Amino acid sequence: MSNFFEGKTAVVTGGSGVLCSCFCRALAERGARVAVVGTRLETAGAVSDEISSSGGIAMPVACNVQDINSVREAEKQICDAFGPADILINGAGIAPASACTTKERADEQSLAASPEEERTLFNLPSEVFREVMDLNCIGMFNVTQVFSQKMAGIEGANILNISSMSGISPLTKQIAYSASKAAVANLTQWLSIHLAGVGIRVNAIAPGFFLTRINRHLLLNEDGSNSPRAQKIIDGTPMNRMGSPDELTGAMLYLCDSSASSFVTGVILPVDGGFSAYCGV
Ligand SMILES: NC(=O)c1ccc[n+]([C@@H]2O[C@H](COP(=O)([O-])OP(=O)(O)OC[C@H]3O[C@@H](n4cnc5c(N)ncnc54)[C@H](O)[C@@H]3O)[C@@H](O)[C@H]2O)c1
Repeated sequence: MSNFFEGKTAVVTGGSGVLCSCFCRALAERGARVAVVGTRLETAGAVSDEISSSGGIAMPVACNVQDINSVREAEKQICDAFGPADILINGAGIAPASACTTKERADEQSLAASPEEERTLFNLPSEVFREVMDLNCIGMFNVTQVFSQKMAGIEGANILNISSMSGISPLTKQIAYSASKAAVANLTQWLSIHLAGVGIRVNAIAPGFFLTRINRHLLLNEDGSNSPRAQKIIDGTPMNRMGSPDELTGAMLYLCDSSASSFVTGVILPVDGGFSAYCGV
C-alpha cells in the first residue's frame, strides 16, 4: 500500500459509523494520522483500536457536532495530538424513522390521521424536522467553521462532505433528510467558492444506497429480507444492486488526495451504480 497520506492529519466525523469507518481505515492504511470522531467514545475507540492494532495511527474523539463548544474541544484535543487537519471529512449524519412520513404519497386517510396511526406531512412535529436539519447541516457548518481556520494555507488542505442521492432529488418518505442533504450539497458549493480564497478545496460524495444502521428501518423487512422499497431502489439502479461501503473509498481517496484532484473543487460526486443517471424508462 502506498503511503501518499504520510504525515497528514485526517479528521473524520461519523468515523465510528459504517461508511466513514471504512474511510478511517483506508486513510490510516495510506499513512494518515486519523481522528475518529463519533458521538460515543467507545464506538470511536473500537475503530481507532482496530487501526492501531494493524499498525496505523488513530485517536478516538467523542463530540456532538450540534454543540459548538463540543466541536471546539474536539478540535483542541486533535490539534494538540496530531496538529491541524489537512483533511476534514464531514460524515456525521442521521435519518431517523421519526422524521419520515409513513406513506410515499398522502391520501384521504392521511389528512386526519393521528401520529400514532400514520406520520404525515400534516402531523410531523417541526422539532423532529429541525433536529435532522440541525445535525446534518448546521453540524457540518459548526465543524467546518472550527477546523477550517487552521487548515487555511496548508498545502493540499481539503474538506469532503457526505451528501446523498436524496440531496440530488428527494427520496419519498425522507422529508427532513432529503432537505438536509440538499442543503449539504449547496453548502459544499458555497464553501468551495469561499474557501478557494485560502487554498482549501471542498467537495462532496453523494452515495447511492448502502445498507447501514441509518436506513435498515426502510430497507429490510423484520425477517431480514429486502423491503419493497429496497427492491424499488435495486430496480432503479442500473447496476442492479446496492453498494458495499468499501465501494465509496476510491472516490474519497481521489477527492482527498491533492496530487490526484488538485484542480477539483465544488464537485458533488455520485457513487450510486447509475441511480442518478436513470430516469426509470
Ligand atoms: N447508508 C447509506 O446508504 C447512505 C447514503 C447516502 C448518504 N449517507 C450518509 O453517510 C454518512 C454516514 O452514514 P452511515 O450510513 O455510515 O451511518 P451510521 O449511523 O453508521 O453513522 C453515523 C455516524 O454519525 C455519527 N453521529 C450521529 N450524530 C452525531 C452527532 N450529533 N455528533 C457527532 N457525530 C454524530 C455517529 O456517531 C456515527 O459515527 C451520513 O452522513 C449519511 O447521511 C449514507
